Amino acid sequence: MWLTLLYSCTGGAALLYALYRWVIPAVVQYHAGLVLIWHDRIVEGLLNTLTQTTRPQRMLAAVQKNATRGDPRSVVKAIDQFCRQKEWAMNVGDEKGCILDSVVTEVNPATVLELGTYCGYSTVRIASLLPSNAKLITLEFNPDYAAIARQVIAWAGLEDKVQLVEGASGDWIPKMKEKFGIETFDLVFLDHWKDRYLPDTKLMEECGLLRKGSILLADNVICPGTPDYLEYIRNSPRYKSQYFKSHLEYTKVEDGLEKSVFLG
Ligand SMILES: C[S@@+](CC[C@H](N)C(=O)[O-])C[C@H]1O[C@@H](n2cnc3c(N)ncnc32)[C@H](O)[C@@H]1O
Repeated sequence: MWLTLLYSCTGGAALLYALYRWVIPAVVQYHAGLVLIWHDRIVEGLLNTLTQTTRPQRMLAAVQKNATRGDPRSVVKAIDQFCRQKEWAMNVGDEKGCILDSVVTEVNPATVLELGTYCGYSTVRIASLLPSNAKLITLEFNPDYAAIARQVIAWAGLEDKVQLVEGASGDWIPKMKEKFGIETFDLVFLDHWKDRYLPDTKLMEECGLLRKGSILLADNVICPGTPDYLEYIRNSPRYKSQYFKSHLEYTKVEDGLEKSVFLG
């Protein structure tokens, strides 16, 4: 009888593990809502409680374990591996990251603004492709994320190219010229909370931070989605806009990037 009980418990545990590790992730990756509920609520909450650490701390540990100091591409690879094999996270990710890379390379910007740093994944991608005299300012209002991002950026050896500013975009955008001596941005990567894309774009216009030819690149325009921003940017005579179809980071759900040229 004890043997039967032991077999039942072991079998039950193995089944639960298989569901948690493979079956549920394989199913939810096709459904936007389920992806976020499973990975962002259930798994993150569970692992935070069990390990008494946060997801950004676990991501940083993966970088320190698997990436080479001073090698940005190894940092990007370590984070992608962590997110594909261990825990999903809200980085732009490897698939849309390739589109981001190609836009950065094409624009070859001297001044870049990133809205939404999180753990610094896209910051590292962008900064590693910038010319030596270029500057990237990245804004993050969550101090815990900012603290992790600083360490990720330093591990990649990119702290000289990146200025991480802690605070809300709505507060900092009007201070860009005065505090950082910025004339205009060549490239802006919008990847913060989705309801801020439109007001912050209008704020950048008002503050004179966009010049003729400045590029706005917006992530997650389909999932979770930014309908008011898309409506504006696609219909305004001040922009020429193009959609790059892709998938929500580390899933099969459709998402994409909107690249918009400011026409002045
Ligand atoms: C999707 S994550 C950014 C991911 C990051 N760009 C990457 O790909 O690695 C969005 C981040 O924006 C930050 N955020 C949201 N709204 C913000 C705001 N108004 N100002 C500054 N940071 C903001 C959040 O705290 C979060 O860390």
